[in-house]
Amino acid sequence: DETRQLPAVDLSACNGHGRCYMTAPDLFDCDDDGFPVVVGPATTDVGQRDLQRAVANCPEQAITVSAG
Ligand code: F3S
Repeated sequence: DETRQLPAVDLSACNGHGRCYMTAPDLFDCDDDGFPVVVGPATTDVGQRDLQRAVANCPEQAITVSAG
């Protein structure tokens, strides 16, 4: 049974530190201004581990996760 974890970024809180897309490049892209764009849900153990790291590493606590 596959679980999917969909990240979301609160862009009003994000300051463009970039740790999310450096930590989890399969889950986050970055736009031309250095702000993150969610690519898709984490569906694998590796992806979900990377997502938890991205959440923990964001200095602005701007990343949330929901069942996706
Ligand atoms: Fe923004 Fe946090 Fe990523 S500040 S660029 S969501 S690490």
